[in-house]
Amino acid sequence: MQDNLRKIIADGILAPSGENCQPWKFVIDKNTVKIFNVPTADQSLYNFKQRGSYVAEGALIENMVLSAEERGYKAEVSIFPAAGTLDLVATITFAPSVSQKNPLYESIPKRCTNRKTYTGQKLSHEQKQKLGEAARSAGGEFRLVDDEASLKTLGRAMAVNEKVLFENKKLHDFFYTHILWKEAEQRRSGGFYIKTLEFLPHQLKGVKLFKNWFILNLLNKLVKVSDKIVAENAEKYAGSGSIGIIVANGNTDTDFV
Ligand SMILES: Cc1cc2nc3c(=O)[nH]c(=O)nc-3n(C[C@H](O)[C@H](O)[C@H](O)COP(=O)(O)O)c2cc1C
Repeated sequence: MQDNLRKIIADGILAPSGENCQPWKFVIDKNTVKIFNVPTADQSLYNFKQRGSYVAEGALIENMVLSAEERGYKAEVSIFPAAGTLDLVATITFAPSVSQKNPLYESIPKRCTNRKTYTGQKLSHEQKQKLGEAARSAGGEFRLVDDEASLKTLGRAMAVNEKVLFENKKLHDFFYTHILWKEAEQRRSGGFYIKTLEFLPHQLKGVKLFKNWFILNLLNKLVKVSDKIVAENAEKYAGSGSIGIIVANGNTDTDFV
């Protein structure tokens, strides 16, 4: 059992997390795994009220349940089981059961965040329906736009993020402390290996140059370089076939897990 619990956790931690910070900690107690959130792991502004971390922990739990079912265990999940503390995100209790095959299990090691240039291909009607069903079955909602005018508007709105990032020293410094320049550094959690950010050659030169806040600030004043970055990114985002979001219909911590 202990050996299987370790394998289940190993499948779990392949889940995505903001800046790959992996904000979780585990305590194994017989057939129960306690999952703790580490509030200091994700210091990003995007992690408002720890909710980015809770989303990551939701994905972790999903992976662990799929892994348990594959290995012949039933997983009983309890979210925020201890009243008054938000550090203990969940307990999962495992009991022997019949092994259940789920095609999603095989996708766990194949999943990754893909930042490559979009092909512009649209999702089929069936794919959209399946995504909608998956979101609804978990109590959420899936919203998608794929018409050119909405993609253009959304692309521009999303790229405002980069304007803020390249005009605010605090956010700029935070971003650069989370870039991993060497492949070997990927083994430590917390950061993006530069190659996975998929910059085009001219963008990569810019990213290296703009690490220096003095130069970036000067170029912003002289030639509004941040606006150029925004225009290029807005076009990139609008070039995707579809943009979708999953909406949690509630606003509690549990809804984000
Ligand atoms: C809550 C959350 C927020 C994220 N925000 C971003 C983001 O703003 N930009 C981005 O490129 N990736 C984002 N990611 C993806 C992570 O960077 C990615 O999961 C992590 O680096 C691990 O890589 P992997 O997904 O390929 O395993 C986010 C993931 C989560 C769970």
